[in-house]
Order: sequence, then structure tokens, then C-alpha cells
Amino acid sequence: MPTLIYLIGFMGSGKSTLGHILANVLGFDFVDLDDVLEERLGRPIWEYFQVEGEEAFRKAEHALVEETIVLKNTVVAAGGGAFLVDANRDLMRENGLTVYLRLSVSLLVTRLSSSRHRPLLFGDDGVTLSGEALRERIERLLAERTPYYEEADVIVDIDTGPIGSAVDRLEAEIQAWEKKPG
Ligand code: S3P
Repeated sequence: MPTLIYLIGFMGSGKSTLGHILANVLGFDFVDLDDVLEERLGRPIWEYFQVEGEEAFRKAEHALVEETIVLKNTVVAAGGGAFLVDANRDLMRENGLTVYLRLSVSLLVTRLSSSRHRPLLFGDDGVTLSGEALRERIERLLAERTPYYEEADVIVDIDTGPIGSAVDRLEAEIQAWEKKPG
């Protein structure tokens, strides 16, 4: 079993929830990068984004990714944009096993329609988009991001099934990856 696992993927894909459970199953520690960042930045991510801008957030996020590479026996849930930055992607791929949680646009729309704290889903008025506008935003971002996400070592498709079965598949795919030659 690899000793450092990065869960990556779009907002709302369950990286934190599944990551927590997976860490318990494996007897690993769990680190949620967004939670650590909120603590460090001293305010919610959405507020930091609005006041300091996305670039400042990405800098702080990158510094934290750099710190994680020494962790052992740990599952790390990365924010949805972390893997898009070349330097972060290289660090994660070189030092851990990267696992992409892949969901359909429809499922993401369902899951994200009650989200209130994700700045990339806000409209110009600072309020989370809804309906067709939300779907279009998710579709566009996912299309831009998919080529990067698919560079992960392992891809696990997440559907509407029970969470336990997603965790089982996650564990099985990680073990299968380990047995792959090369
Ligand atoms: C972001 C995802 C968020 C958070 C920030 C930016 C993104 O994390 O890091 O709002 O660029 O996709 P989640 O993926 O946990 O929502």
C-alpha cells in the first residue's frame, strides 16, 4: 500500500468525506488541505478569494502542497484546483499516489446545488449560481480541468451508489495499482 495518497477531483466530488473514511479503513492520518488553509489564512476560503484574489490563494495552497510531500501513512484531500497547477501536480505525482474521483456533470450539479461557500461557483453578485447557470459553470470548468485530473495515477468513478461501495472500490483500485508491473 502506498504511504501517501492524494485524492483529487472537482469540487463536490467527495474528496473530504471519502478521504476521511479511507484513512480510517487504512489506519492512516487524514489531512484536508482546505481546512488547513482556512486555519492558516484565518478566514473562510471564499472570503480570502474575494479579498486577496485567487492568485494569493494559489500561492498559499502551493506552499502547503510542498509541505505535504514528507507525510507518511496519510490520505490528503486536495482542493479542486490544486492539481491544475503544474508544480503541485508534479509534487503530488512524484511523492504520492494520486487518485482522481470522477463524477458526471449531472451528479456534480446535484451535489453542488446546495453549496454556498465555493467562490468559483459564485455569480457576479457574489451569490452561488443556480439552475442552468450553475450547470454551465460546472460544465465549463470540468471540461477545462479534466485533462489535468486524468493525469492522476488512478481514476475511480463515483456514482450515486452507497458510500461504502465507493470506499471499497477506492481501496481495490489502489491495491490493483500497487500490483501493476512497472
Ligand atoms: C477550488 C476548490 C475548493 C477550494 C477553492 C478552490 C477549485 O475546494 O480549494 O474554493 O479551484 O476547484 P473543494 O474542491 O474541496 O471544494
